[in-house]
Amino acid sequence: MAKIKVAVIFGGTSPEHDASLSSAANVIKNIPADKYEVVAVGITKKGRWLYYPGDTSMLTTGKWENYPDCTPAILSPDPIHNGFILLGEDSVVKKVDVVFPMLFGRNGTDGAIEGLCELSGIPYVGSGIASSANCMDKDIANTILEYNGIPTARRYVVTRPDLKRMDDICSAVSSEMGFPVFVKPACGGSSLGVSKAYDAMGLADGIKLAFTHDNKVIIEEFIQGRELECAVFGSDKPIASPVGEVTFDGDYYSYDAKYVLGSTKLIAPADIDSTSEKNIRETAIKVFTALDCCGLAMTSFFLSPDGRITFGEINTLPRMSPVSLYPRLMKELGVPLPELLDRLITIALERADISTD
Ligand SMILES: Nc1ncnc2c1ncn2[C@@H]1O[C@H](COP(=O)(O)OP(=O)(O)O)[C@@H](O)[C@H]1O
Ligand SMILES: [Mg+2]
Repeated sequence: MAKIKVAVIFGGTSPEHDASLSSAANVIKNIPADKYEVVAVGITKKGRWLYYPGDTSMLTTGKWENYPDCTPAILSPDPIHNGFILLGEDSVVKKVDVVFPMLFGRNGTDGAIEGLCELSGIPYVGSGIASSANCMDKDIANTILEYNGIPTARRYVVTRPDLKRMDDICSAVSSEMGFPVFVKPACGGSSLGVSKAYDAMGLADGIKLAFTHDNKVIIEEFIQGRELECAVFGSDKPIASPVGEVTFDGDYYSYDAKYVLGSTKLIAPADIDSTSEKNIRETAIKVFTALDCCGLAMTSFFLSPDGRITFGEINTLPRMSPVSLYPRLMKELGVPLPELLDRLITIALERADISTD
């Protein structure tokens, strides 16, 4: 039987470009080779799309872009092509059966790549356009979850016109929430643009910083607690993994804690009591369902000392590097990465079959 052609798209223009490379390399290595043929397509930091026929080991070094056989490639929105147009001397169509996006942040799995796949008529792994976009926007995701009775942190939303009344905002925040508060771009990742404000001056600075990343900014009450993660997998009847934990040095899980300090630990599974474990796993499934996710998502929660859990955030396309929590937690659940990838691609193909019935 002919192998199923899977296009793994990696890189991208968001600040999370580099993080995507190690995830994509790990996915490419673990997609079962007896059943699938991988078509690797990278997007440079400047947004150029290149078909990459080279070795997977060059992905993580970032040198893939300079590989001589890289060919400019366009994912055609015209379903007649069913794949990429390679812009060499002669334009050739490289057909693919399914897209596996490994892009993080803006213009990745925020609905943008999903929209292009929908236009192209090619099935894709992960959540649909609306779900991806809603999950990327922390204000919208929290609003939907509140409606569904999921505990979230209280927040205050600021848009650019509000900057004229900064004093009002600071006094409203200080009387309604008190300090410290967290300030963050509504759409972001890797803790970029996130800050913890201890007073009105810190708040004003934090708001300005967050606006360098997005046009909508969230001010959130500080939730004290352990940071726990739960992987969710499936479609109609999603399942939740054992719970993992992130520990780090510093005041919060900042960009530096994530990538610079080197003291972060991703623990799978977390050492927590069975009631909290059950609560988090059940809530993770409710979150996944309420946000209409498909295939996979990583949910984050705070576990407070009194046992309360609060939703933190959701990522519809979790990291997939060898040290990432999503594949490790799924392995704890008994699903090793090659099987996980096979099942994710199968879900994508089945979803497309249903929609064309
Ligand atoms: N309301 C909050 N209370 C306590 N810590 C928070 C809060 N919001 C964010 N943080 C801290 O900031 C980190 C990054 O925030 P998060 O919302 O996950 O953004 P990102 O999508 O950039 O990872 C969290 O992992 C946590 O350490
Ligand atoms: Mg986070």
